[in-house]
Amino acid sequence: MSGGARAPLGIGLVGCGGFAEFVLDAAAGLPGLRLTAAADPSPDRAARFGARYDVPALGSLEELLERDDVQAVLIATPPATHAAMATAALRAGRHVFCEKPLATTTEDAAAVAAAAHRADRVLVVDHVLRYNPLLRAVRRLTDQGLLSPAHRFLFENDASDQDLDPDHWFWDPAHSGGIFIEHGVHFFDAARTLLGTDPVSVRATAVRRPDGPVDMVSADVVHPGGVLASHLHSFTHAHRAERQLMRLDHGFAETRISGWIPVRAEISAWTDEAGARVWERLPAEQEGLLAVDGFTPHGAERISVEVERDAGPSAPARGRGEERTVPHHVRAVLDLGGEPRKPYVYAQSVRAALSDLVRAVREGTAPEADAVSGLSAVAVASAATVAADTGVGRSVPGIALEDWS
Ligand SMILES: NC(=O)c1ccc[n+]([C@@H]2O[C@H](COP(=O)([O-])OP(=O)(O)OC[C@H]3O[C@@H](n4cnc5c(N)ncnc54)[C@H](O)[C@@H]3O)[C@@H](O)[C@H]2O)c1
Repeated sequence: MSGGARAPLGIGLVGCGGFAEFVLDAAAGLPGLRLTAAADPSPDRAARFGARYDVPALGSLEELLERDDVQAVLIATPPATHAAMATAALRAGRHVFCEKPLATTTEDAAAVAAAAHRADRVLVVDHVLRYNPLLRAVRRLTDQGLLSPAHRFLFENDASDQDLDPDHWFWDPAHSGGIFIEHGVHFFDAARTLLGTDPVSVRATAVRRPDGPVDMVSADVVHPGGVLASHLHSFTHAHRAERQLMRLDHGFAETRISGWIPVRAEISAWTDEAGARVWERLPAEQEGLLAVDGFTPHGAERISVEVERDAGPSAPARGRGEERTVPHHVRAVLDLGGEPRKPYVYAQSVRAALSDLVRAVREGTAPEADAVSGLSAVAVASAATVAADTGVGRSVPGIALEDWS
């Protein structure tokens, strides 16, 4: 990380683990941000980070907060520690970049959001999907009316447990909050940003492996306006057998996004002549459609569009009461390079999130993955966890900040 014209924002890391290293490497050379210290209760881990990034190695968040060169804190400890750490940092006048989840309970997430509001400090939650070019493009296509708002969202996640040994904190809800909280928050938040609404209720199921922890969960979340979002996570695969599909049903169109870090989207859509012409212009508009501030494209991204004219009958067609005359069929592919580009896309998404923090601090802009998005994701994850435990559907509490301050 290096400085811009102004002194860079000094950021102190707490939690010198696996993901912190990924975040710091992704942030290398990011203008306006400079790592100034690294803390971990394990002296070996702190020392390793201190040596690798050439910063003082400390033992705790409290030691970080004593330093004048720490204007922001990067929290990369296990989930159950996030809320107390974020609150302490905010109260000490520091900005916060918090790994997901923002907290492991709705009350704690709300307390952090309220603390950020009261302290007038920036808080960014590392919801990396918000900084993914494909999700951004789908939002843009929806905003410009080329895709109708989705009335169905589905995310099916055959995830890997290859590196999750039985004693890993991931399996212990006291540390992780459980799968909905630890991992599901990414996709509850993705659904919120793609659908543009806060969820209202949830039903959920959790399945335990024989003599072991819960390793499969599923939630059906109702959003306003008759919209259903289904989320399934199964931590049961080898790395090589991982697969994920996010599917948006727009009625006359469907979007299929593959990769948990999305790397390819395929859109199939029925349209009329005016619509076909707009679709055909998309490859020429690729740069703007995929643009995310702070995310540097690698250059091999491609958008391709094929239109088959008169692929269907010219008579009006109807679904869910909506009638359209759409004889042409469109097949669009938005490709970030597929699975081989996942590490690059992942690192750039994290970099864009950190860049959002710097911009919000410097320019007073609202960050994309703000405290309210962190709170909303925890609120639905938490409601899903209770619904799965009790077998009873739950309403999702409102997340207006004034309700929690
Ligand atoms: N945004 C993403 O895509 C993404 C991906 C992976 C992990 N994560 C998140 O990153 C966080 C860290 O995950 P990880 O896989 O790096 O875990 P990890 O176990 O590898 O590292 C956690 C580190 O925190 C330290 N720690 C624990 N308690 C602490 C405390 N009280 N004070 C200071 N340090 C403490 C541990 O010693 C360890 O070094 C988790 O919240 C996880 O959900 C996010």
